Amino acid sequence: MTISKKVEKWVREWSDLCQPDAIHWCDGSDEENQKLLDMMVDSGMAVKLNEAKRPGSYYFQSDPSDVARVENRTFICSAKQEDAGPTNNWMAPAEMKKLLTEEYRGCMKGRIMYVIPFSMGPLGSKIAHIGIQITDSPYVVVNMRIMTRMGKAVLDILGDGDFVPCIHSVGAPLAPGQKDVKWPCAPIEKKYISHFPDTNETWSFGSGYGGNALLGKKCFALRIASNMAHREGWLAEHMLIMGITNPEGVKKYVAAAFPSACGKTNLAMLIPNIPGWKVETVGDDIAWMKFGDDGRLYAINPEAGFFGVAPFTSMETNPNAMLSCKANSIFTNTGLTPDGDIWWEGIGSDIPEGTITWTNEVYNKENGKPAAHPNARFTAPANQCPVIDKDWENPKGVPISAFLFGGRRPGTVPLVYQAFDWNHGVFMGSIVGSEVTAAAIGLKAGVRRDPFAMLPFCGYHMGDYFGHWVTIGKNAPDKKKLPMIFNVNWFRKGPDGKFLWPGYGDNIRILKWIFERAEGTTGAVETPIGLLPEKGSIDISGLSGVADKMDDILKVDKAEWLDECELIAEHQRLFGERLPKEMLEQFESLKKRLNG
Ligand code: GTP
Ligand code: SPV
Ligand code: MN
Repeated sequence: MTISKKVEKWVREWSDLCQPDAIHWCDGSDEENQKLLDMMVDSGMAVKLNEAKRPGSYYFQSDPSDVARVENRTFICSAKQEDAGPTNNWMAPAEMKKLLTEEYRGCMKGRIMYVIPFSMGPLGSKIAHIGIQITDSPYVVVNMRIMTRMGKAVLDILGDGDFVPCIHSVGAPLAPGQKDVKWPCAPIEKKYISHFPDTNETWSFGSGYGGNALLGKKCFALRIASNMAHREGWLAEHMLIMGITNPEGVKKYVAAAFPSACGKTNLAMLIPNIPGWKVETVGDDIAWMKFGDDGRLYAINPEAGFFGVAPFTSMETNPNAMLSCKANSIFTNTGLTPDGDIWWEGIGSDIPEGTITWTNEVYNKENGKPAAHPNARFTAPANQCPVIDKDWENPKGVPISAFLFGGRRPGTVPLVYQAFDWNHGVFMGSIVGSEVTAAAIGLKAGVRRDPFAMLPFCGYHMGDYFGHWVTIGKNAPDKKKLPMIFNVNWFRKGPDGKFLWPGYGDNIRILKWIFERAEGTTGAVETPIGLLPEKGSIDISGLSGVADKMDDILKVDKAEWLDECELIAEHQRLFGERLPKEMLEQFESLKKRLNG
């Protein structure tokens, strides 16, 4: 293993501060991984699942307070508060570092400090970036091994080059002789997920869960990378990437931004319900994009695994996700069956008698408590996905033909519509709203604005971020090659409170329309909000009970949209002077079209 002086010095400084019992440099080998898993099974932190049913897989229950991202404990510590913007929590970098340095002092006593070198993106790709995470959580190590390219090879490539430093502790030191708990973490008011965009650093303290602790994902690949992208002229987005092939064998890639728990994993690997069409997965959560020499925008998936929502994932709704986590996977906060397998609500089979819930109680139908937490997750290697795209690790990335935005909107927003042009598309992204989900702790129920699905992940002023998207369009090497932009909504409800659109595998019908728009082979009608499918141009062949709902599914109701405009106005006011004039112009045009 090549350990540069720089890396060695950095690790020494942090170990002097955190005072672990030992330091372990992760090489990423199978043996190391197995040792860590065995150790966690021995300590009672993990359960090995039934080898015959779920080979190489392990089960974890988190502390009940540590089940999702914590947005109110997430901070963007830019030098100036105004650069973090109105949608981020801010603290001065020096103040945060002083405060956290005291929290980190001695925080790893009684624990091992793991040093995890990792690459976001294929090893050695020009679009990829290297980070090193320090953590005292072996759970984090085994998850990072699935979610990133991790270990010795990364240090060898890094040499004495620069890396993104990622500091993590669960914030639960052990006194001599103190017995550890199953899931150590700090109380909520001691949790800090902090980012220093000016120095590309992430310091996380107190949580062991998901996006709070696997720092390559949201902290680095989105919050820090969005700053890098802003400075350097590329895009770091909360988007899935998928390939779509039509019956003639023509293939196009699209990228889609939906808020957390709004259907990215499902769309990325859907099984088409119309014959002859094929979908392949490049990524399910994050896209990094740069223009290629041919003037097209190319995307890579910086991750190597899926950290997917478990509940309601089934062989019915998402077989490819179920097959991806068939082996060598980690399950967190699902139920555990008596025969050593996992179970969750909506998995598609009855709950076995005697299943243990995520809170470690025997499941009892009467008390109304679910077996799995709504944000229970599986961690699965992407290369186990049956429809993984052949170019998913291509260091050049894949060329993007269309962007999709969307969220959970029970009303107002039609199933699909297309932007008139790039800036209109940026405006569409900027006004995305969605009902909140269980992916973050402590949010008020209802629809909130989640521009570009980046509200919790944009590492700088959101107004400047809109401006960055405008600039990308303005500076594109060839404007004709820019992706087309669409908005979708699988979640519109009827008066009975039920979803109007069947969703899942039937979403291919919408992708088909989008594909044909990109080919120029299908028509659209102009409405005040954008271009909608011509009557009959959405292929609903073989789908029963939907034809007579299509008008409602695609309806653009003027009164609803005028109400929406009030919300958009309020949303835009938030960004003050930093709202790009293009966004104000787009809004004025929308109102004019609605009133015209
Ligand atoms: P994160 O990993 O949090 O970023 O979430 P995600 O965007 O990948 O969401 P995911 O695909 O895991 O879906 C979350 C939930 O939405 C699951 O419970 C799905 O069952 C549900 N869902 C996904 N697609 C559809 C759809 O087309 N229609 C309906 N009604 N529900 C859907
Ligand atoms: C999300 O919340 O968007 C996720 C899960 O993808 S987490 O990694 O916890 O952020
Ligand atoms: Mn996500």
